[in-house]
Amino acid sequence: MTRRQATRQLAGFLAASPLLAAPQEQLINVFDFDAAAKGKLPKAAYDYVSGGSWDEWTLRRNRTMFERIILQPRFFREVNKLDLSLTLFGQKMAMPILVAPTGTHALVHPDGELATVRGAGAAGAGMVVSTSSSFPIEKISAEAKTPLWFQLYTGPDAEGTRERVSRAVTAGCKAICVTVDAPYQAPRERDTRNGLVRVFGEDKGGTRQRRYSEEAPGSPYGLPMRFQATLNWKFLDQLCAYAKVPVLVKGILTREDALLALQHGAAGMIVSNHGGRYLDGAPSTIEVLPGIVDAVKDRAPVLIDSGFRRGTDILKALAIGAKAVLVGRPPLWGLGAQGQDGVQRVLEILRTELAWAMGLAGRATLASVDRSLIRIE
Ligand SMILES: Cc1cc2nc3c(=O)[nH]c(=O)nc-3n(C[C@H](O)[C@H](O)[C@H](O)COP(=O)(O)O)c2cc1C
Repeated sequence: MTRRQATRQLAGFLAASPLLAAPQEQLINVFDFDAAAKGKLPKAAYDYVSGGSWDEWTLRRNRTMFERIILQPRFFREVNKLDLSLTLFGQKMAMPILVAPTGTHALVHPDGELATVRGAGAAGAGMVVSTSSSFPIEKISAEAKTPLWFQLYTGPDAEGTRERVSRAVTAGCKAICVTVDAPYQAPRERDTRNGLVRVFGEDKGGTRQRRYSEEAPGSPYGLPMRFQATLNWKFLDQLCAYAKVPVLVKGILTREDALLALQHGAAGMIVSNHGGRYLDGAPSTIEVLPGIVDAVKDRAPVLIDSGFRRGTDILKALAIGAKAVLVGRPPLWGLGAQGQDGVQRVLEILRTELAWAMGLAGRATLASVDRSLIRIE
């Protein structure tokens, strides 16, 4: 290659890279979008998105535990072509990154999940729609260009639950993720102090469940506390029997529950502590991932979320054995800062960082990302 050709190639790379295309904006990583959303959103909305439960210990640990994992790059391995694509539950995906289910996007942008799903589609990322979405699942799926899954919150109303699942599947959702880590409401003191709880009484037409907590005793600060407290593993048997699409259990933190999920019919699972939003004191997900992957072996895909902010974080989880990573707050920060474009950009940044880190680590394909890439301190 001549010097001129090399310069032209570099210029092309700079123009195409979402990290380098718009230096004047200075939003070059996920943390920048967090700061931009903080500057733009009302305090109560920002706190709702960004906060965690009680002392936010688990929220912090979700970040700090990545530091215990060291990457061990290998060189001279022809990494000029990087392939991030994969097939999950028979669905082709351009990258192993999905938008995690998060409720009430209209709290950070008037177009809510409609903007999010358009941004995710433009970036090539799949999306999991929350039961507590601000828009009906049919409207969201009408905008989807990438695989759409549905996250299920449920309660003792078996008929209502069945109807919600069938509505999501009819709308085109290709998997159901049932969230298990919320038997009681989240103890998030930022939201209590901001008086945010009242907002959730209103249903703007999402696939939201009825509140099952009315009969529960009130908490010291007047919140109904019980949420999915009546659920047990039998519910998973029933759900898997009628769902017609793969069912994943979201919120797994132990090997024991991972194995129970498989026994009761789950097609996969998401290792998650809900982004540090429910039981404070629960472990970070990256620290329990190795044990869970080893217990599950290759019987079902193990996915993970909670605290992923860098391509290198994602690479570490993939090296341990996760098949894909979900991100919750990053797309919401993108949505709050720049609407649909912000969602797209945040996801493109994560994809670029992941590809870049794979190249630097000497791994051209996801198949070559394995445990030899990491050392856990
Ligand atoms: C604002 C917000 C709302 C959320 N709503 C839901 C929800 O409705 N259902 C659910 O299963 N998880 C929900 N989650 C948890 C996410 O699916 C995911 O587990 C978590 O955000 C991952 O951590 P991260 O935000 O650090 O990426 C929510 C998270 C946030 C930040």
